[in-house]
Amino acid sequence: MNERQDAVEVVGLRKVFERRARRGLLRRAPNGAKTLIAVDGIDFRVKRGEIFGLLGPNGAGKTTTIKMLCTLLSPTSGTARVAGHDVVREAAKVRSSLGTVLTGERSVYWKLTGRENLRYYAALYRIPRRKARERIAELLERLELAGRADELVEKYSSGMKQRLALARALLPSPPILLLDEPTVGLDPQAARNLRQTIFDLQAEGKTVLLTTHYMAEADDLCDRIAIIDQGKVIALDSPAALKEGLGAKEGVRLEIQGEPNGLGDALRAVASVESVAVRPSANGVGTCELQVITSSSRRSIGPIIESVRAAGHEVVHFQVVQPTLEDVFISLTGKSLRD
Ligand SMILES: Nc1ncnc2c1ncn2[C@@H]1O[C@H](COP(=O)(O)OP(=O)(O)O)[C@@H](O)[C@H]1O
Ligand SMILES: [Mg+2]
Repeated sequence: MNERQDAVEVVGLRKVFERRARRGLLRRAPNGAKTLIAVDGIDFRVKRGEIFGLLGPNGAGKTTTIKMLCTLLSPTSGTARVAGHDVVREAAKVRSSLGTVLTGERSVYWKLTGRENLRYYAALYRIPRRKARERIAELLERLELAGRADELVEKYSSGMKQRLALARALLPSPPILLLDEPTVGLDPQAARNLRQTIFDLQAEGKTVLLTTHYMAEADDLCDRIAIIDQGKVIALDSPAALKEGLGAKEGVRLEIQGEPNGLGDALRAVASVESVAVRPSANGVGTCELQVITSSSRRSIGPIIESVRAAGHEVVHFQVVQPTLEDVFISLTGKSLRD
């Protein structure tokens, strides 16, 4: 990768899957209807040394994008370059520039110890034995696995397994890391520690491209974010600029009793309400949460609450909030990131 080159350059990248029939056979699609467009012509560039996030809901096409970048899937069309190398024509060079950690990936062996796993991969990467020993000790130390390095991985917590997978990816000292939903399934403390590790890697000069469906994580961690939905990049900027793009808009969160039947439309009709997303509330049975974006909470709160009551619902809780990335997503798509 030369000085001026971006770490990752993606141009018009597309992936179309043929949907599999039940018996595992590919069904031929005369009219194309049996295909699924997972990634629909996306463009983005990741600068060297940047933490760049692909943020989007489940099914947006994040993992498919990562798999094309690490050469596990071939693109249907478009191009992608990693460290200046084309993912199709120079796949081996791409792979040697990258450390990749996929989600739910069984890339570490549960019947081996942490240290044995790393020795095994060091041999695969053809790292000379003495150098491997040093590098493994160093990685076990920095990922806080040293104390448990000689225990079987099956005894590890999910946070430890994730750290071991990251150690495995870091073994050959790649300049670029691809991390697919790095904190999914981790408890809050383990997730926080992993985010700190990602910052540390950046401080050492690594480039990190990660995916997440947690907007707070993207906000906290990423220098820039591409928000993706249904295979398309719908916004790309720094978290601050994305939020500033909402201007003086405010978020109103309402928790209401009962099913929201039609309430979204009723609220969209209220003056100064710009978008509304509805989702089941996280902290209550039989309640749901309405996420409203308004150009003036002062003018709209009264009419919003009246509409909710007129529809026969009780307001359990409401709150005016500074716009978050969630609100950016809602205002772009009219739906909640966590639907
Ligand atoms: N191997 C595959 N065959 C067919 N469809 C797939 C395959 N992998 C992913 N998909 C579909 O592609 C879409 C995007 O999936 P994915 O990239 O995993 O999204 P995300 O990681 O953002 O949740 C989804 O609709 C998913 O069901
Ligand atoms: Mg995914």
